[in-house]
Amino acid sequence: MPDYPALAARVRALTEGEDDVVALMATVACEVHHADERFDWTGFYRVVAPDLLKIGPYQGGHGCLVIPFSRGVCGAAARTGVAQIVNDVEAFPGHIACAASTRSELVLPVIDAAGGLIGVFDIDSDRRDAFTPEDARELAAILAETFGRAA
Ligand code: SME
Repeated sequence: MPDYPALAARVRALTEGEDDVVALMATVACEVHHADERFDWTGFYRVVAPDLLKIGPYQGGHGCLVIPFSRGVCGAAARTGVAQIVNDVEAFPGHIACAASTRSELVLPVIDAAGGLIGVFDIDSDRRDAFTPEDARELAAILAETFGRAA
């Protein structure tokens, strides 16, 4: 488990006064990715059209470029606005395998200052059962603080 208070403080210090979404996404992806060895792919998909996600800043191996809301764990988070923890991707219908090594995922909706969905934050692990509700809660708080001021 990362030291979430320290991670939140680092993101806060690095992004203070910044409201550019790409700059914020790049910084969060980097800081979160390096905070825990369970995180093998860490990044954002952005809402670019109704019901369509496109790759944003990330860390790790290459990610699929386009994901419709109707597909995958990312699509489910975007469609429902609810955090998704998938303990075993093989048991998730419609999972999109960008990397064959991925075993579990956590995907959180990202909301901007206006309250609109601007994307999802996706963390993939090569370990099964990598993510806990505490990870979801702590990371959601970091996203709310960071993107709650995004223009
Ligand atoms: N596995 C995700 C797709 C994104 S990548 O793994 C980077 C999904 O099913 O939504």
